[in-house]
Amino acid sequence: MTVIDTHSHFFPENWPDLAKRFGTPNWPWMKHLEPGRAMVMIGDEEFRPINSACWDIEHRISELDRDGIDQQVICSTPVLFAYTRDPQHAKECAEIFNDACLDMCAKSDNRLLPLCQVPLQDIDLACEEVTRCMKNGHLGVQIGNHVGDKNLDDEGIVTFLQHCANENASVLVHPWDMMAPERMPKYMLQWLVGMVAETQLAILSLCLSGAFERLPKELRILFVHGGGSFAFCLGRCDNAWHQRDIVREASAHPPSHYTDRFYLDSTVFDDAALKMLVDTVSEDRVVLGTDYPFPLGEQELGKLVRECPLITNDQRRKIMGANANAWLGR
Ligand code: CO
Repeated sequence: MTVIDTHSHFFPENWPDLAKRFGTPNWPWMKHLEPGRAMVMIGDEEFRPINSACWDIEHRISELDRDGIDQQVICSTPVLFAYTRDPQHAKECAEIFNDACLDMCAKSDNRLLPLCQVPLQDIDLACEEVTRCMKNGHLGVQIGNHVGDKNLDDEGIVTFLQHCANENASVLVHPWDMMAPERMPKYMLQWLVGMVAETQLAILSLCLSGAFERLPKELRILFVHGGGSFAFCLGRCDNAWHQRDIVREASAHPPSHYTDRFYLDSTVFDDAALKMLVDTVSEDRVVLGTDYPFPLGEQELGKLVRECPLITNDQRRKIMGANANAWLGR
């Protein structure tokens, strides 16, 4: 059995000075502090301390070996998306990190699997970049769960998802740019509350807008962090769909009808929560994810799924690898 982690991130060790290149301030850059340690900066502000697992392939693979992970899907980090920038600049930015991602994977002896990023604020450019990346060896694309005030049911984004299905590109939806940051300035509440709400919002946007009716069944789309609050709140959402016409006005079916249209990862840190995911979207739709190598990710990769007493061994086997292969279309 091949064990596959579907949710991890990388930063290249270095990249061009984007502020200088594009003539606009506050692009992310890497401040190396000492060997193996760096700070991701946004302009003059510290964004996140990281270590060499982000860019050093040997470091990363030694940790995959330690925890029995055969392959790991890697993608950039949402802070690099550049969705609020000039689309051409965002496209060039995507090219830089997409090519760096391919370069890392090429040196990994097939242990690392690449996902690209796209300038999603411009659908034509985003489609072009996915096509270019799929030709070059990427397996799919990571997108943010919204672009400004546009959710995934935005007509342009649905067109983009359709294009991904046509290109056979797997899609990973990552929450980012969390709602109401002014009310969550401390304690990482944006990650603890905002992220899970953003993810539920993304899934419900596709369900309640009827977008899943328009999108082809061939689209292989994954929501990370266990789909956020989606599974726990599904009963509430179905009840609302049945009770109120303003909830169901655009969708032919309640949200629970669409649980066979997407995958959720296992980054939930709780046995009962993992079991709930399996019960909600089925044992064929949950994939191993870790959010490696960040502190809010799983520190012993795969531990939750490997040791969860509430799922069967057959379910465990599917979650550890077989379902990821289905999401990856192979
Ligand atoms: Co992540």
